[in-house]
Amino acid sequence: MGIKSVAIVTGASHGIGKATAIRLARDFSALVLVARDADNLEKTANEVRPLGAEAMVRALDLRDPEAAGTVIADTIEHFGRIDALLNIAGAVPQIDLFEMTDAQWDDGLALKFHGARRLTISAWEALKASQGSVVLISGSAALDPKPGFAAVAAINAAIIALAKAFAEQGIKDGIQVNSVVPGPVMTGRRQSFFEKWAPAHNLTVEDAIKKFPEEVGISRYGKPEEIAGLLAYLVSPMAKWMTGASVRMDGGEIKTI
Ligand SMILES: NC(=O)c1ccc[n+]([C@@H]2O[C@H](COP(=O)([O-])OP(=O)(O)OC[C@H]3O[C@@H](n4cnc5c(N)ncnc54)[C@H](OP(=O)(O)O)[C@@H]3O)[C@@H](O)[C@H]2O)c1
Repeated sequence: MGIKSVAIVTGASHGIGKATAIRLARDFSALVLVARDADNLEKTANEVRPLGAEAMVRALDLRDPEAAGTVIADTIEHFGRIDALLNIAGAVPQIDLFEMTDAQWDDGLALKFHGARRLTISAWEALKASQGSVVLISGSAALDPKPGFAAVAAINAAIIALAKAFAEQGIKDGIQVNSVVPGPVMTGRRQSFFEKWAPAHNLTVEDAIKKFPEEVGISRYGKPEEIAGLLAYLVSPMAKWMTGASVRMDGGEIKTI
């Protein structure tokens, strides 16, 4: 008998992507784990397998235009189907608008935007066959752009629009596409954010981490597992009628309607 359900998770070596892979091991029979660091992906795979899912690791740089096709071809060859694609990998440079070079903008777009766009297009026929789901991860900076982190805001806003464009075609093809808009979640990436944010506010990194939640009006940081739970819901049968949505989970950071 063939494998029952397959999810591809990008960014599965760390942070939100890793937590998502571990959470999805309860719902899917097989997971394809994608990021650059093979050792860390193997560590995720070793946490996923005891939970009952098969795990295949693909260590690739998703900025490479060939990478998406490779991931999808390998998934189909190995497992024969794709039921969910979770585009979580992202590393947009956190640089001031007036200092950021064209090359840095291109780099941010190459992974988070084009990587997710190419994977979704490459997986589309398989997702059509399975009537599957796609989620793209955005970020709350999209809804509150600041010059210090303009690329994060602009690229995350573009992700929301990209997800909506895919969702429109997905209505015809039976594929659900949504985006998730997390607020501040404590991961390696969030730590690197504080290396920029702290000196700009005349604080040490340690003090900045303590002060930031109050500064942005939240009671605490999110946990990767909390975003993973939302992502798991969006690719579950319970969310099948939900498409074209961008769902915030940010501890109440964004106050506007
Ligand atoms: N943490 C937050 O507060 C927050 C808030 C809003 C949105 N987000 C978004 O959530 C996503 C995950 O963030 P995180 O905080 O979990 O970050 P993280 O811990 O730094 O994880 C980023 C993931 O992306 C992978 N990655 C980076 N460059 C890659 C490349 N060129 N090719 C393939 N994979 C690559 C990394 O793996 P390798 O290094 O092994 O390649 C890692 O698995 C990002 O898109 C981020 O923008 C995060």
